Amino acid sequence: MSGVLAGPHPNPLPPAGEGVIPGSVSLPLPSGERAGVRAAALVEATDLAKTFDVSAPWLNRVLERKPRQLLHAVDGVSFSIEQGQTLALVGESGCGKSTVARLLVGLYEPTRGSFHFDGQDAHAAFRGAQAQPLRRRIQMIFQDPYASLNPRWKVADIVGEPLQEHGLLSGRGELRDRVGELLQSVGLSPLDMAKYPHQFSGGQRQRISIARALATHPEFLVCDEPTSALDVSVQAQVLNIMKDLQRQRGLTYLFISHNLAVVRHVSDRVGVMYLGRLVEVADKRQLFAHPRHPYTRMLLDAIPKIHDTGRARTPVQGEVPNPLDPPTGCAFNPRCPHANGRCRVERPALLEIGGMRVACHAVEEGRI
Ligand SMILES: Nc1ncnc2c1ncn2[C@@H]1O[C@H](COP(=O)(O)OP(=O)(O)O)[C@@H](O)[C@H]1O
Ligand code: SF4
Ligand SMILES: [Mg+2]
Repeated sequence: MSGVLAGPHPNPLPPAGEGVIPGSVSLPLPSGERAGVRAAALVEATDLAKTFDVSAPWLNRVLERKPRQLLHAVDGVSFSIEQGQTLALVGESGCGKSTVARLLVGLYEPTRGSFHFDGQDAHAAFRGAQAQPLRRRIQMIFQDPYASLNPRWKVADIVGEPLQEHGLLSGRGELRDRVGELLQSVGLSPLDMAKYPHQFSGGQRQRISIARALATHPEFLVCDEPTSALDVSVQAQVLNIMKDLQRQRGLTYLFISHNLAVVRHVSDRVGVMYLGRLVEVADKRQLFAHPRHPYTRMLLDAIPKIHDTGRARTPVQGEVPNPLDPPTGCAFNPRCPHANGRCRVERPALLEIGGMRVACHAVEEGRI
């Protein structure tokens, strides 16, 4: 797990700032926004939590006197994303990133907290008559394009299915036109619609997934490690397509990755997760230049410096604790070089400190 972020990594990506989505993109005002008045963000997650019951079956528990076991995969996560912006979520495997993604697209009901999309309570909508219109506006791109594309379907059917499901077509001819346009928008040929997924490379398959996700004209894309299964050489191409599409369509992204080099390339803001919680949220440039939380610093120390020999400086130390038996106080304390007595008993809150949000006693006390 710790090795995920450590070790040499031939970074094909340009340094921060190059090719970054400019903040000055001209976009339509989010609904409800009046001149000079800052509207609520398009995406607003508040104290979002998801607990899984991973207890043994009832009879085993009784016979073996085992207690009920709850796993707090996501434990009170709050963030917002303005329209047209990208928030990246980063953290080691198992810290709850995919669970956040699944909560946002309605695959999971939250145990606690809420998610508002464009001012609307999304989970109330997912349960009711508004579910389909909302699903049209929020789409997800998964990590593994091999698993997420039906191998027995032609690309025309894969990309066209959401158009039919949401009743966005009037005839077969229109389907071909729309699928052709969508394929072109991700750098593929309209002729590719007659092929099957196995006839494409990994990068091309992920482009097909993106075309499919775009079919319903979504406003918000939840991207769960969309390039992690791809060769390093094609990652940058897919990321650049995603950024171009964002500029052209004013898309809003939640971009999940365990790879900080990728996050540096695509994000406007970054949220660092540790064991189901956000420990630091900051503007991308600020986070990479002046990380505050010891965990963020550890992750950054593990990636090679841009333009260096490709050798990692300091591998990520230690292992993520067992989420079924998390440490008391700050969950990071067993791995933290700055931990003290307070850290072992009191869980730090995510506080606004110096323009960023950080959950760390040492930062709050000015020790680091
Ligand atoms: N459906 C599930 N049932 C039980 N535990 C789960 C389920 N999904 C995820 N988990 C657990 O929740 C934690 C967070 O998982 P996940 O969100 O997949 O993390 P990440 O995407 O950051 O690797 C992990 O400990 C994982 O084992
Ligand atoms: S609260 Fe304490 S243990 Fe946690 S990150 Fe800060 S210094 Fe380290
Ligand atoms: Mg995941």
